Amino acid sequence: MTSNNPQTREWQALSNDHHLAPFSDFKQLKEKGPRIITNAKGVYLWDSEGNKILDGMAGLWCVAIGYGRDELADAASKQMRELPYYNLFFQTAHPPVLELAKVIADIAPQGMKHVFFTGSGSEGNDTMLRMVRHYWAIKGQPNKKTIISRINGYHGSTVAGASLGGMTYMHEQGDLPIPGIVHIPQPYWFGEGGDMSAEEFGVWAANQLEEKILEVGVDKVGAFIAEPIQGAGGVIVPPETYWPRIKEILAKYDILFVADEVICGFGRTGEWFGSDFYGLKPDMMTIAKGLTSGYIPMGGLIVRDEVVAVLNEGGDFNHGFTYSGHPVAAAVALENIRILRDEKIIERVHSETAPYLQKRLRELNDHPLVGEVRGVGLLGAIELVKDKATRARYEGKGVGMICRQFCFDNGLIMRAVGDTMIIAPPLVISLAEIDELVAKARLCLDLTLSALHG
Ligand SMILES: Cc1ncc(COP(=O)(O)O)c(C=O)c1O
Repeated sequence: MTSNNPQTREWQALSNDHHLAPFSDFKQLKEKGPRIITNAKGVYLWDSEGNKILDGMAGLWCVAIGYGRDELADAASKQMRELPYYNLFFQTAHPPVLELAKVIADIAPQGMKHVFFTGSGSEGNDTMLRMVRHYWAIKGQPNKKTIISRINGYHGSTVAGASLGGMTYMHEQGDLPIPGIVHIPQPYWFGEGGDMSAEEFGVWAANQLEEKILEVGVDKVGAFIAEPIQGAGGVIVPPETYWPRIKEILAKYDILFVADEVICGFGRTGEWFGSDFYGLKPDMMTIAKGLTSGYIPMGGLIVRDEVVAVLNEGGDFNHGFTYSGHPVAAAVALENIRILRDEKIIERVHSETAPYLQKRLRELNDHPLVGEVRGVGLLGAIELVKDKATRARYEGKGVGMICRQFCFDNGLIMRAVGDTMIIAPPLVISLAEIDELVAKARLCLDLTLSALHG
């Protein structure tokens, strides 16, 4: 609570007195006081101290079209005046949700023409778990309940989402995972590849899926869920051998494949979906974030036609949310997708900004702290190490957090996952803004190195 600005101090006092913040140490936050973000435009945020900050994380990976687009505000306001709310239970619908389902069917991979809407990515994955089990029960195989997921994957923070995710620090709180969810190793070569080449490790990591299917028994496995590129786990881009081998395994066994596209979807990789980028053929895809560019909460589950055909024979699916397909969220999503399409934002990521960001980021490889730079599309990761050759870390120094603080202090939001710095800027970032991002990242790496050795 060191601010000289009375307005900042007032907001921080409100936080202390009344607010419980997500993924935070409540006590520590009271001591420090939160940073108060007051407004935003394009790729920039402003805090209550008047600092301008380049948002290298697009909020939480979601603000695809950038901040401050009036068209989305107008779409919300128009819809609120026309029909602010109605539900989709009991055989009713409204125009925005139906139009949105059609638009999503148009951009989704071939053969995925139906959407179940939710309020978030976590709810999308809860829906997935229930739908997968319902599907197999309808097919007369009710024992195919187990979902295979990956260690250090992220699938949300509800009980099912956190269970599906492979974050041990989340499992430790509240007896997770729930029964029927098992995890296999992640394809994180830099951190866990040991002496194997990246290609060998990719095959090894993929083979863990087959081993787990055989261990659990194919008659008990309902689905495998994975992010095409793990986001919150540290922007883990799998070795090139990983997805091809996973595809072979999926083709061999009768289980469903769920791509969690909450981060990769809506253009992050330079394609509409991460599944398009890797040529995957999911049975279901979880979506959220970029669907509305984060302007309003919305998520969902896109479902393959063959799966829908089975569900059609199953009677009531006893599942849904008050805000499933909320009309205002649907209107905002429609406008967001219109902008992505009309302004050819994803095409530009594909051909211009992603290649440029990836080239500029890799220049940081020459920095003494940097063990690896990797990325795809507008996703990037920088591994901070003590020794480039052995990939040894600065154990126990919290290097990632030191670097993150320097970033905040120098007008850049870069997130730390352990000692991995990650970025995912808005898809509308310009080449000049990419230059600014990389220059600031280099400055903060320099400051971090000096802090470690100073
Ligand atoms: C891959 C992935 N799945 C699911 C979720 C959960 O989404 P939400 O926070 O909207 O519940 C997230 C959130 O970061 C995510 O990254």
